[in-house]
Amino acid sequence: MKNIVVTGGAGFIGSHLIRLLVNKYPEYRIINLDLLTYAGNLANLKDVEKMPNYVFEKGDICDFQFVDSLLHRYDVDAIIHLAAESHVDRSVLDPFSFAKTNVMGTLTLLQAAKNFWTPGGFRNKLFYHVSTDEVYGSLPNDGSYFYETTPYKPHSPYSASKASSDHFVRAFHDTYGLPVKISNCSNNYGPNQFPEKLIPLFINNIRNNRPLPVYGTGENVRDWLYVVDHARAIDLIFHKGKVGDTYNIGGFNEWKNIDIIRLLIRITDRLLGRAEGSSDHLITYVKDRPGHDLRYAINSEKLHRELGWSPSLKFEEGIEKTVEWYLENQEWLDSVTSGAYMKYYETMYSNR
Ligand code: NAD
Ligand code: TYD
Repeated sequence: MKNIVVTGGAGFIGSHLIRLLVNKYPEYRIINLDLLTYAGNLANLKDVEKMPNYVFEKGDICDFQFVDSLLHRYDVDAIIHLAAESHVDRSVLDPFSFAKTNVMGTLTLLQAAKNFWTPGGFRNKLFYHVSTDEVYGSLPNDGSYFYETTPYKPHSPYSASKASSDHFVRAFHDTYGLPVKISNCSNNYGPNQFPEKLIPLFINNIRNNRPLPVYGTGENVRDWLYVVDHARAIDLIFHKGKVGDTYNIGGFNEWKNIDIIRLLIRITDRLLGRAEGSSDHLITYVKDRPGHDLRYAINSEKLHRELGWSPSLKFEEGIEKTVEWYLENQEWLDSVTSGAYMKYYETMYSNR
């Protein structure tokens, strides 16, 4: 039995990763460590919560004593670390909570793992850190890419906090010999993403005839990957990647925001039985996000060349499936936007 802690497992990417691991590896015990902030929602994992190789532990990655006792209690072999504050706009308003969770939380996990594993040695142990392409900064519109060797140049408090956490992970490898792996992924889309991010927010607004706030000119470029393909890449790197290495993950799938917004309008209108493009009038250009990165484009050739990974889903299929999912799961959207689920789970777990 391998005991693996996944942090942030009730969030968007973490829940997809847990679903994949719990189903694919019955011989592993997957321990989901999550604080259930506004972004964490156990309803994301309803289909796996009764599986014998899955456990949920509510707790804070910044709480050293809690993390330390969890590692002992489950005799943990590996940590896959996703828990984070993840939304750029929130980081502009409240940079401190990003430094706390993303930097201090990661450092807490690293120190607890190092202390716990040191007596028996680091053989067959692993700290896998899930990060973002935003640490590399912003690219001009010239066809260039972020590589694993691109120097870090974060601009937002979110990307600065993720960059800092990446540096701490590498420092623990270089200083103490902790076995680590890091992956930096591009923008994810798919089911269960909190509707403050572009794609779920806009699908929901189109459905409800609400304005679609396009920041600045809408010319910013993002590189979109289906969330399940990110989870598949993490699984592959976790098992086959080289200790101490970094892997970029992305689908070579760049879109200008305004183009993706027009695509979302066409698909959503069609699925709702409206004339395609009839929701175009909802597009509303608003003041730009401060420090808004112009373009992200990740080069994931290393992951393809060394480990044979490539995305399983074409973007056209993935985005169609995604719009369908949000339209069919209005209840999920309503519950996460109303905050009702948080009250429910707070009561459920308050006595632990
Ligand atoms: P998310 O916001 O949907 O989920 C984050 C999860 O972390 C939530 O379940 C939340 O409850 C939990 N959490 C927050 N603070 C915590 C704490 N102190 N202790 C324990 N749990 C805590 O995020 P996501 O979009 O799923 O991103 C997951 C990871 O992947 C993050 O590290 C993010 O930086 C990285 N990433 C995200 C994207 C993307 O497009 N969403 C792309 C590349 C990398
Ligand atoms: P987002 O989903 O917040 O991801 P990130 O900032 O991490 O890339 O935003 C994706 C792009 O969409 C980004 O360029 C900002 C833009 N955007 C808008 O134009 N309007 C919005 O309401 C949101 C949330 C994002």
